[in-house]
Amino acid sequence: MKKAGLGAFRPTRVKSVVLAVTATAALSAVLILGSVSGQVYAADVFGTLRAPGDVAFIAGHRGDRSLAPENTMPAFELALAGPMAFVETDVQLSRDGVPVLFHDVTLERTTNGRGQVSEHTAAQLAKLDAGTWYGAAYAGTRIPTLDQFLALLATSEKKALVELKFGWSAEQLRGVVELINRHGVRSQVVLQAFSIDTLVNLQQVAPQFPRVMLVRELPADPVPMARRFGVLALATTAKAVALAPDAVTRLHRAGLGVICYTLNSEDTWSEVRAHGVDGIITDIPSDLDAWLAATSTGT
Ligand code: G3P
Ligand code: CA
Repeated sequence: MKKAGLGAFRPTRVKSVVLAVTATAALSAVLILGSVSGQVYAADVFGTLRAPGDVAFIAGHRGDRSLAPENTMPAFELALAGPMAFVETDVQLSRDGVPVLFHDVTLERTTNGRGQVSEHTAAQLAKLDAGTWYGAAYAGTRIPTLDQFLALLATSEKKALVELKFGWSAEQLRGVVELINRHGVRSQVVLQAFSIDTLVNLQQVAPQFPRVMLVRELPADPVPMARRFGVLALATTAKAVALAPDAVTRLHRAGLGVICYTLNSEDTWSEVRAHGVDGIITDIPSDLDAWLAATSTGT
């Protein structure tokens, strides 16, 4: 005689069910307490954490630099009007302490200026041409300040991954957080950094502010490291994910996200999608969007 269903009532099964219910109740309590205390979780910011094969969110690297000069207002306007959920950008300080959006240490590659960004005042940087190198149509495009970028972001519902380049002191970070709050875009901004000092200072200055740790390599179990810095997610390379595939599972089990940068080919998109990463930063956001649409039909 078939003993259908009997297995479900074995004592060990009962124990598992009780444990599962207890764990679910504990998780719910943590989430409720978290929402009361203002704590933000990765899924609040990035959407439900992905499973292998799921569609990741798209972040336009330095705006949409496939259509306009990187880290300029036209690139951000195009990105915010495009298909991506996030826009990524880089912030550093001028000589007189004004946060400006610029990637390189030096000005030569993308402007008509010379020397380091940090050697110039905001007024000097504001006079530079950050568009001609890209194309005549963008001649006269300026280096934006973080203030200008946040004002634009406030007109959109999209989010920004704002990378704090190099080292930032607690006082400098306080200024950034105040600026974000002043623009009313706190729920739209995620701060990210490679610098350990910056992450530590940020944790002290704004422990509830959503932040991401940028890492070039992943340890086999990156959860303790992510917890140590109180970040919502790690952002890393496709190679790092391939070398530590269990890391994504471990992070997801801990309620933490995984983002990959900067991926511009179908092969890499496909590879990280198979690992279930939550977000992909790319220079060609429209192409990634089209690829995701084409490869997700019927799923
Ligand atoms: O957002 C991460 C990625 O942008 C880091 O690389 O050099 O383009 O700032 P980089
Ligand atoms: Ca960056």
